[in-house]
Amino acid sequence: MKTDIQTSPLRTILVTGGCGFIGSNFIRYLLTESGFSGCVVNVDKLTYAGNPESLADIQERFQDRYRFIRADICDRDAVRDVFRRHGISAVCHFAAESHVDRSIVAPDAFIKTNVEGTFTLLEVAREHAQSFELFHHVSTDEVYGSLGPDGYFTEETAYRPNSPYSASKAASDHLVRAYGETYGLPVTISNCSNNYGPYQFPEKLIPLMILHAVEGKPLPVYGRGLNVRDWLYVTDHCRAVWEVMRRGRRGRVYNVGGRCEMANIDTVNRICDLVDEILPDSPLRPRRQLITFVKDRPGHDLRYAIDCSRIEKELDWRPQESFESGIRKTIRWYLDHREWIDRVRSGEYQAWVQQHYGQV
Ligand code: NAD
Ligand code: TYD
Repeated sequence: MKTDIQTSPLRTILVTGGCGFIGSNFIRYLLTESGFSGCVVNVDKLTYAGNPESLADIQERFQDRYRFIRADICDRDAVRDVFRRHGISAVCHFAAESHVDRSIVAPDAFIKTNVEGTFTLLEVAREHAQSFELFHHVSTDEVYGSLGPDGYFTEETAYRPNSPYSASKAASDHLVRAYGETYGLPVTISNCSNNYGPYQFPEKLIPLMILHAVEGKPLPVYGRGLNVRDWLYVTDHCRAVWEVMRRGRRGRVYNVGGRCEMANIDTVNRICDLVDEILPDSPLRPRRQLITFVKDRPGHDLRYAIDCSRIEKELDWRPQESFESGIRKTIRWYLDHREWIDRVRSGEYQAWVQQHYGQV
């Protein structure tokens, strides 16, 4: 049997969705910062959100330790082939449809990839039970639903997903848990709050606002901008995922958050002020004047807030980046990577923006 990457099977991690925002940051972190010395196989279907160019330098630099394979996680034969050829012993599962607004307009792909795709991966992992070490599932705090002004999501909070996206992620979490309980598959799950940082597709709040602020376009804030999100810089999330994979208790769930709650309007105001500061000569100042309140998202969750004391206590994990330092880095990154941005804003992206923000 041909093995493409020469290494011990136990050291080879299959990362799904590694061409997306968090997956690409995770692979970069794993190979350059974490101390991990094994191999990474990245399986990604390359939907509109996946861009292999995000890892072009990694591909070049780690030719013997990194492999990219374009495949759909719903394709069981393709996943089986990856496991066989590369001696996969662990999975870190990021691949998903991830945008709430898209899930409201067209939920099918969310059920397919997030539920059926996760099921397919679990089934193939189960076929390799003898040698399989860990299935880590990357999930979201959105499975817990919406909070009022007080309280936090703990790992014991009941699931109450409100969007097709969060419902599909909740279903996938349940499947992962069930495979741990029923088949004894070694599993871990992390539920994280909103991420931001380099390589995020500019349909999500922070990159969309940065780019529109730079370009002088309207900044579409849903409702009155009072919904609250907890923000975490992406590398802090990647470190949390890796700590859970390395040292987390098997069968356990870990909540991950930034202890950084902000109302959307405050987040957007901060971005406007920082872009003004970084581009002081622009006639677009003050960019707060670009803020446009638009129709609210249906079923819009009011507030997310994470109690992350379990991962803090058990794995000694803490965010290293404050919102202030992280958002500055992120704005800089978007200013310095025009080519990446132009590339991902392809025809389909334009059509989506047109359809969704036509009212602005
Ligand atoms: P993303 O949309 O940027 O990337 C998703 C990646 O998955 C893309 O590269 C896409 O091509 C790939 N993909 C989609 N369908 C696929 C399929 N059928 N087969 C193979 N690959 C497929 O998403 P992201 O923001 O990087 O999120 C990654 C994971 O983290 C998701 O599971 C998401 O639910 C979770 N998460 C995200 C956040 C956040 O703030 N972005 C927060 C918590 C958890
Ligand atoms: P988003 O980045 O889509 O993440 P999520 O819905 O998973 O939390 O949105 C973050 C918040 O910003 C959410 O409350 C919706 C709001 N939002 C806007 O106000 N305007 C926008 O254009 C977008 C994309 C989001």
